[in-house]
Amino acid sequence: MRVNLSTFCEIHTPIYVLEEERLRRNLSLIKSVAERADVEIILAFKAYALWKTFPIFREYIHSTTASSLSEAKLAFEKFGSPAHTFSPAYTDYEIDEIARCSSHLSFNSLSQYERYHERARLVNPEIKYGLRVNPEYSEVETLLYNPCAPGTRFGVSADKLPETLPSDIEGFHCHCHCESGADVFERTLAHIEEKFAKWFPQLKWINFGGGHLMTRKDYDVLHLINILKGFHARYPHLKVILEPGSAFGWQTGPLVTQVVDVVEDKGIKTAIINASFTCHMPDCLEMPYMPAVRNAETLEVEDPMKAPEGEHIYRIGGNSCLSGDFMGYWKFDHELEIGENVIFEDMLHYTTVKTNTFNGITHPAIGIVNLDGNLEILREFGYEDYRDRMD
Ligand SMILES: Cc1ncc(COP(=O)(O)O)c(C=O)c1O
Repeated sequence: MRVNLSTFCEIHTPIYVLEEERLRRNLSLIKSVAERADVEIILAFKAYALWKTFPIFREYIHSTTASSLSEAKLAFEKFGSPAHTFSPAYTDYEIDEIARCSSHLSFNSLSQYERYHERARLVNPEIKYGLRVNPEYSEVETLLYNPCAPGTRFGVSADKLPETLPSDIEGFHCHCHCESGADVFERTLAHIEEKFAKWFPQLKWINFGGGHLMTRKDYDVLHLINILKGFHARYPHLKVILEPGSAFGWQTGPLVTQVVDVVEDKGIKTAIINASFTCHMPDCLEMPYMPAVRNAETLEVEDPMKAPEGEHIYRIGGNSCLSGDFMGYWKFDHELEIGENVIFEDMLHYTTVKTNTFNGITHPAIGIVNLDGNLEILREFGYEDYRDRMD
């Protein structure tokens, strides 16, 4: 089916729509950064794992990163290459399978390394070991996303590292960004080098984690490339890896929903849609942030219990029974009608991985608009998906 990418007027049920053209634009940029800076850039599954689109990714990148057994298996089986794996804590009952599906295994602590390094190598003699380090510096202000906040459970700080690393640790893994710019990376890198450069001669690679939002419009790509080139010049023996997630799925498509009712209480009008913030856009409530709604103005309010003055101003409410499953306010240019589309922008990265079946609410379908303009449905959901999660 051909669809109008502005209105999606042919669509009458909820669906996440990935636009292949936008995805390829991101992938091209990421590939060119990797080539120009001579680094490897791999996809973090935590942000994007729509595996039916992996053949497109494989035209641009070769590897992915996993944080769990299921992600490592997806890398191995569906992406077709073993994963660069980091988990805060591996377990006795999963480590063997994780090792089988991984090319790189980064440990979060020296105790995890001690516990599993011999065992994982028995399963996979080629596996490369890394250690996550904590630079104790991150400019991420939202506590939920700051891996270096005091008391963090992530990584070993410099004061706890032995002068001589275990002989089979050949890499450092360091993740401290979130939707960050190249300037943030530059400042963070100075801290990383100050704290950890004395161990670099013992290493072969360093992974600077995710959060490098190089596909955002205002991201200074050239600056990133120059920072990485500078690092190479200082440490030519180190292979550099970046593992962004969001940057791949950034602005690659919306969640298209429909209005099913409009209700009013105490002067507050809520358009109830056939999807849910808590189930299908969970980051909006978690972070929280107001998603952009197409052709509507997002209104900033001090008191969420008081609707701003004006016409066609709505909260949007989800169709779950969670009282807080709403956000608002948005100003539309007309009165909302039952059945019309409400289009939430940029709902591919993280969202499609984090959704759930709470309340049994039907999960939106997932589709891709191919380069020829046709919408292909990748997946539809129903009662069985809800039922079988609890088998
Ligand atoms: C270890 C690690 N690597 C990569 C990422 C991907 O980050 P982003 O999607 O912000 O690029 C994350 C995100 O939390 C992470 O924890």
